[in-house]
Order: sequence, then C-alpha cells, then structure tokens
Amino acid sequence: MKNKKIAVLFSGEGTNMEALIKNLHDQTFNDTKITVSLTLTNNPTANGINRSKKYKIDPIILDHKTYSDREKFDKKLVEIIKDHDIDLCVLAGFMRILTPVFTDNIKAINIHPSLLPLFKGANALKRSFESDMKIAGVTTHMVTSELDSGKIVDQACFSKDGLSFEDFKAKITQTEHSLYPKSVKKVLLT
Ligand code: GAR
Repeated sequence: MKNKKIAVLFSGEGTNMEALIKNLHDQTFNDTKITVSLTLTNNPTANGINRSKKYKIDPIILDHKTYSDREKFDKKLVEIIKDHDIDLCVLAGFMRILTPVFTDNIKAINIHPSLLPLFKGANALKRSFESDMKIAGVTTHMVTSELDSGKIVDQACFSKDGLSFEDFKAKITQTEHSLYPKSVKKVLLT
C-alpha cells in the first residue's frame, strides 16, 4: 500500500477543498491511500476554515498581511508544506500570486474557472460569462511561475445557452467539484 499526502490551500469559501476532502480524504484507490494532511489559508476570516474543521482537519492560518513581501510569505509557506512531507499541493481558490520561491520548490495543481488559455487572471468567471463564446468551462493545470499557464491536466465544458449569471456560477461550481478530485487522482496515481 502506498500513501500520498496532499495539502489544500484556499482563501475564501473553500467549497473545492470540501469536495476534495469528501472525495479523496482517507480513501484508497487501487493500492494508494490519499490523505489530506494539511489545509491552509492566507485569510483569517475565510469561510473555508469552518468547512475544514467539520472534517476534523484544523487549518493553518498564514496571514499574508503579516509578511513584508511576497517572497517572505512564500518562504514560510514552502517551509510548512515541506514540514508536512506533502506529495502534491492543491490550490483551491488560493488567491495569491506565487513567486518562484514557491513555484520552484513545490509541485502544485490549480483550478481555474475558465477554459484556459482563455480568461487568465482575475474575474475569469465573469469575463467567461460575458464573452460571446457558446461554451464555458473549467481547467485544472500544473502551477508554474507564469500565472494560469502551466501544463493542462484536464478540462470540462458546458453550453452557456439560456443560463443566467446565477445559473452559470452554479454550473461552474458543480463542474469544478466533479473535475478537481479526478484531476488530483490523475496527477497522484499516474
Ligand atoms: C473557484 O471557482 C476557483 O476556480 C477560483 O476560485 C473559486 C474558489 O471557490 N479560482 C480562481 O479564480 C483562481 N484564479 P471555493 O473557495 O468555493 O473553492
């Protein structure tokens, strides 16, 4: 039996983190057991903190505002992840621009609410909804120093036809929750 440990990083609601815990934590796939060994947020008031606690995983709170620059924050983040002996770091709505201090040292995957390479960066969901494209979707990709640009792990798409903005947001969320655990498994188990 092999063991793979993941860390999940979030900044807000943490619904993707919850989907990852529900679908992967302490579960065995073929001969590999996946454990969410660490959850961490940069936001002391993130709703995800209580979501994580529901599963008896006490998140580490690393407030970026107490660090004088991005590199110092990233150095501490790398230290914590290394201390937990993590196989894969999973960014789940972790709203930080990461420096090479992080990207050169940590193997990480991210989820983005658009069909990359379209709509990189901030407000992707709104820009994707407002575009004249007929389809939209979500992307999981490996993390590099270039924002939203690493190798694509997987994508899922749907028709925008007839969707209000509220419907669209719900569809993105639902698509993310189904895709992300599969992508994490793909990276860890293949
Ligand atoms: C998700 O929609 C995720 O794709 C997005 O933040 C949301 C987090 O929701 N991430 C990005 O936009 C990254 N550029 P959650 O906190 O409920 O999981």
